[in-house]
Amino acid sequence: VLEGKCPFGGNTLGGAQTSAPTLSDWYPQRLRVEQLHRDGAAANPLSDQDYAEAFATIDLPALKDEIKQFLTTSVPWWPSDYGNYGPQMIRMAWHSAGTYRIADGRGGAGQAMQRFAPISSWWDNGNTDKSRRLLWPIKQKYGAAISWADLMVLTGNCALEIMGFPTYGFAGGRRDAWEADDATYWGPEHIDMTAPSSYDDMVERDQRWTGKPGDADYELQQPLAASHQALIYVNPEGPEANGDPAASAVDIRITFGRMAMDDEETVALIAGGHAFGKSHGAVAADRIGPPPENAPMDAMGLGWHNPEGAGNGADTMTNGIEGSWTPNPTTWDNTYLENLFRFEWEQTRSPAGALQWTPTDPGAPTTPDAHRDGVEHPLMMMTSDIALKVDPVYREVCERFLADFDAFTLAFSKAWYKLTHRDMGPKSRYLGPEVPAEDLPWQDPLPAPAHAPLDDAGTAALAAAIRGTGISTSDLAYTAFSAAVTYRDSDRRGGANGARLALAPQKDWAVNRRTVPVVEALRAVAEQGGASLADTIVLAGCVAVEDAARAAGVEVQVPFTGGRVDATQEQTDVPTFEWLAPLVDGFRGYEQPGLAEVTPVSPERLFLDKAALLRLSAPEWVALTGGLRALGCNHDGSSTFTDQVGVLTTDFLTTVLSPDLQWRALDEGQRTFALEDRETGQEVHRATRNDLVFGANAQLRAVAEVYASSDGQDRFVRDFVAVWDKVMMADRYDVRAG
Ligand code: HEM
Repeated sequence: VLEGKCPFGGNTLGGAQTSAPTLSDWYPQRLRVEQLHRDGAAANPLSDQDYAEAFATIDLPALKDEIKQFLTTSVPWWPSDYGNYGPQMIRMAWHSAGTYRIADGRGGAGQAMQRFAPISSWWDNGNTDKSRRLLWPIKQKYGAAISWADLMVLTGNCALEIMGFPTYGFAGGRRDAWEADDATYWGPEHIDMTAPSSYDDMVERDQRWTGKPGDADYELQQPLAASHQALIYVNPEGPEANGDPAASAVDIRITFGRMAMDDEETVALIAGGHAFGKSHGAVAADRIGPPPENAPMDAMGLGWHNPEGAGNGADTMTNGIEGSWTPNPTTWDNTYLENLFRFEWEQTRSPAGALQWTPTDPGAPTTPDAHRDGVEHPLMMMTSDIALKVDPVYREVCERFLADFDAFTLAFSKAWYKLTHRDMGPKSRYLGPEVPAEDLPWQDPLPAPAHAPLDDAGTAALAAAIRGTGISTSDLAYTAFSAAVTYRDSDRRGGANGARLALAPQKDWAVNRRTVPVVEALRAVAEQGGASLADTIVLAGCVAVEDAARAAGVEVQVPFTGGRVDATQEQTDVPTFEWLAPLVDGFRGYEQPGLAEVTPVSPERLFLDKAALLRLSAPEWVALTGGLRALGCNHDGSSTFTDQVGVLTTDFLTTVLSPDLQWRALDEGQRTFALEDRETGQEVHRATRNDLVFGANAQLRAVAEVYASSDGQDRFVRDFVAVWDKVMMADRYDVRAG
């Protein structure tokens, strides 16, 4: 009937696919399981690429020369300050790396997420869009041989080098992401990105902080590492733009600490970074256009349109503060600290109205205008710079660096290397000729192999010796899984290699208590078999899975790839390893005692978070959990809904899906449940949310139905073995690309 009535054809005049409202608008609490599949091979035009091979084709010194040439060649559409793009490229690289936070390992330079929202459009990333666009001709020339993520860090290094700073090293090996990350938690604030934002909008931050700066209970929500959403670290004008340097120091210590930077590294980074370049505040923030993600089509991915004058050069407006920290903003020297300490500073306002500091002494040196010859300006400090002078501990570090420029230079170069490489994972991922030989503690170093590689006969003998211990299938599987499950794809830390399960702090975690006697028994097996403990633990898991499959009537061979090594306690940085301890591990039926008091986040959301950090798909998540339940892998030996523990059945999934059973919450918060026979009312099992989620969530239920069906058993065993191997191999960058 409608035919011919609609001049445009189709029936989408009110909206098209993906138009709002979306599912998450309607059901904000829903578990977004589909996020597990983001940034997959389908999104990646280079999914068939061997990046290491491609990167090896680059003549790195030649590329660096080209970058250095580019840095000192100004182009009219975005003229460089002082004839040098170096400082703005350092800031781009620092902001690319500076999103890293140690609590969940997310953020960091590793995937060039600065190209995508929300990070691309954070107020703090103002005009980094110009830096990346300026770099495009070089990226275009080298194409897929260098990722954006590598190019941004390398350009930061080149910028430092042309200004006289000796960098510590550079590793390639970062693989770009290909779509925006819509899952990482960046904080509770709802910032209106459609309006130009400024630091003045960043006063409301109560939801992510408890208390006020200086209070004993002052704390930032986990896993966050920035004092406000849309910032990399702290507000340069002080907390809530209050201009208080002492309070700023408190925020700096918390936020840089969340990136695993200590006081010395923090001072080195800030004082080192601000030896270069300038801040831009020529125009009021409310005149600046929307950020890239909300900019009009003809802005072509660039944001923050500035209507004043040329909108760039001398008229540039980035964050609102105006001026430079040193008289020589394109030279590595110690004048940042010298001036910070030599002069008293008073609060002033920039042309854009931002709070900043100027020397009180009219005889203080000046800094040249970035574009106009012969024009000079007073020096500038931000409240966050004055913080380094006011805080007694930072002050002590500054004084040391003031007296010893070489020590400062070395500290900054090492801290910069750590900042820009810290999320890359094992050194076996590092590519190129500029990788320092030295092992650094934050790299979670591994020793050279102490054993000859296991051949087939050696592996078989070791497997026989493992079986000979008489340790149960369940305990063997539990131990192997516990060794591997610490892996997180965000910063590629953790995993079974290194056998750190046997070292502090892992061996002392409550969730690992069950593994302690097993590890001791396997240590003896390893010593006798001439194998590493790490390989022996993983092989024990393979043995367990094969035996459990056989008990279920399916013959499988679980892949085993030896070559793991055993780390020493000295190679294991205990405080940063503590961050790998789980609050919740739904695979092992674990919740930290008192979880509900620690976090409002539900256990199943934390379970999903862990599945994402293991880079599991929804089917892998279901198969892995189903198999672990069959293997009796709850940390406390509690019911896994099967009376044949150690037999690789789908009992857990069948039970969860059963209409003949009913679930009853045992507490008001719905944390524990009784499973009752509908007819008799008799209690059959106890369960947690991380059991029930496989029946309650529609997407997980849909997958669970496949495995729990009458024809699902073989598929279940096959998929479980595949995901088991994936988890065991997750950290093996020594033998696989990644
Ligand atoms: C510029 C804040 C730490 C390197 C700036 C700007 C702000 C700022 C507001 C001006 C941006 C603009 O208007 O163009 C902060 C704060 C920090 C911090 C609050 C931490 C407390 C660092 C670190 C580095 C760094 C750790 C590098 C190691 C730079 C550079 C510039 C800059 C090179 C100059 C950019 C240019 O000339 O275009 N910073 N920063 N900053 N920052 Fe930082």
